[in-house]
Amino acid sequence: MDDPTATPPPGCPAHGIGPGGLRRLYGPEAEDLAAVYEKLRAEHGPVAPVLLHDDVPIWLVLGHAENLHMVRSPSQFCRDTRQWTALQDGTVKPEHPMMPHFAWQPICVHAEGDEHLRLRGAVTGAISTIDHRGIRRYINRATQHLVNQFCEEGGADLVSQFAEHLPMMVMCEILGMPEEYNDQIVQAARDMPKGSETAIASNAYLMDVLMRLTARRRAEPADDFTSHLISHPARLTDDEVGQHLRIILVAAYEATANLIANVLRVVLTDPRFRAQLKGGQMTVPEAVEQSLWDEPPFSTVLPYVAKHDTELGGEHISKGDALIMGIAPGNVDPRVRPDLSAHMQGNRSHLAFGGGPHECPGQDIGRAIADVGVDALLTRLPDVQLAVPEDELRWWSSISNQHLVELPVKFAPKPQQDVMARPAHPLASPRVSTWQIGASEPQPRMQAPAPAPTAPTAPPTPAGRQGPLRRFLRWWRGE
Ligand code: HEM
Repeated sequence: MDDPTATPPPGCPAHGIGPGGLRRLYGPEAEDLAAVYEKLRAEHGPVAPVLLHDDVPIWLVLGHAENLHMVRSPSQFCRDTRQWTALQDGTVKPEHPMMPHFAWQPICVHAEGDEHLRLRGAVTGAISTIDHRGIRRYINRATQHLVNQFCEEGGADLVSQFAEHLPMMVMCEILGMPEEYNDQIVQAARDMPKGSETAIASNAYLMDVLMRLTARRRAEPADDFTSHLISHPARLTDDEVGQHLRIILVAAYEATANLIANVLRVVLTDPRFRAQLKGGQMTVPEAVEQSLWDEPPFSTVLPYVAKHDTELGGEHISKGDALIMGIAPGNVDPRVRPDLSAHMQGNRSHLAFGGGPHECPGQDIGRAIADVGVDALLTRLPDVQLAVPEDELRWWSSISNQHLVELPVKFAPKPQQDVMARPAHPLASPRVSTWQIGASEPQPRMQAPAPAPTAPTAPPTPAGRQGPLRRFLRWWRGE
C-alpha cells in the first residue's frame, strides 16, 4: 500500500503539495520561496490559497495592487489575530512554530480603531521627537567605531561585524540605553524571533533590560524615545511601554540589519550598482531603495484577518480567514515591474514598509541607518571587495525573511580613525574617492563629485588629548 506521508520527488508535479492540492510554504519543497511564489502566481493569479507549517491554510496575496488594497481597507481586513477562525477552532496548535507571529498582544501591531490610534499615536509621537540630524551624526560615529574594530585586519565579515551591530547601537541610543549595547543584546535580538530553543531566554533577557529602562525613565525622565513614550498623553502603562519597546527594538533591529547586509551585498556584487555608483549617477539612498524592492528586509507580514466575507483578487475570502501580506512577491508583480532588471530610480512605491494604518512609522530611521552607515563604511574602505566568489554566499531564509549568513570582504589594512571625526577616506588626499556615492546628508542626483574629505585629525579639544577609553565614553554620551 502507498505511504500517504511519503513526499513526491523533486520534479514531480505533486512535489510541495499538501491537503486539498494546496502548495506548502514550508519544508524542503519550499526552499526557493521566490520560485514557489511564481508558480502560485501562474496557477492562481494575485491571491493564492497556500499551507503554512502543520498544513494550516492561509491566503497568500501576491499582487502589488491587491496587497495595497488589503492593508488600506481596515473595514475589511485587520491585524487582530483573535478574529482568525483557525486560531479559535484549534487548527493552529499552541506549539505552532509561527506562534510568535500569531499570538495576539496588546500592542499597536495587533490593535485597530481607537485603540490602534492611542497606541500608535504614542509611538509616532515619541518618534517625532528624535533629532534626525543628531541621529545621523551618531550613526556616523557608530560606523567609525565598528570599522575601527576590523580596519587594521584587511578583512571582515560585514554581516556579523557590521550589519548586525550598527542598528543595535543606534536603537539603544534612540531608546535611551546606550550602555546596554553589547554582544549579548545583539545575540538576543537575533535569536528571539527565530523561535529557537533559546528564544524564551532571549526574550526574558530583553524584557528585563527594557522593563528596567521603563522604570528608570518613569522615575527620572530624560530627552529620549522611552521618556517621550511614557509621557505621551495616551498614558501607556509600564507593561504597554515595555511591550512597545520590545517590538520596536526587535523589529527595527532585524529589518535594518537585513537591509544593511542586502545593500552591501548588492553594492559589492552587482556590476550595475558598482558602475552607477562609480559614475556618480546613483546615490546610496537610491541603492537602498532598489534593495527595498528586490530584497525587502521582511518578505511577508502575517497574518491579516478578514473581518467579513469579501473578495480579493477574484477569490472569495470568508470572514475569519487569514491572509499573508506578500511583500516580496508583491514587489516583483509583473504588472508593476515588467522588467525586473530595470532599476527603480529611487521609486518608493514598494511594499517593504507595509501600508495603510499599520505602515511602518520608523521607516525614515531604518533608511537613515542604512544610508549613513553604508556610505560611511564605503568612505572608510573604498577598496572593499568580496573575499569569496559570489556563488559561495549563503542565505538563511524563512517565510518572514531572508538574510545573508556571512559577507566576507577584503581590503588593504587601514589605520584607526577618531570616532568623533567625519568619516574620511583613509588615504585622504586631493584625489576623489573611487566610490562616487551620496554623502551622508541627502544630495541631489547627478551632481559634480564632492571634494575628497580632509584627513582625520584629532580635534584640539580636551577629547582629542584623552585616552581612547575616555574619548569613547565621551562619544557614547554624545559630548
Ligand atoms: C529597514 C527597516 C524597517 C523595515 C523594512 C520595517 C518594516 C515594517 C513593516 C513591513 C511593518 C508592518 C506594516 C504593516 O503591517 O502593514 C512595520 C511596522 C512597524 N514598524 Fe517597521 N520597519 C523598519 C524599521 C523600523 C524602525 C526603525 C522602527 C522604530 C523606530 C519601526 C517601528 C515599527 C512599528 C512600531 C510598527 C507597527 C506599526 C503599526 O502596527 O501601527 N520599524 N515595519
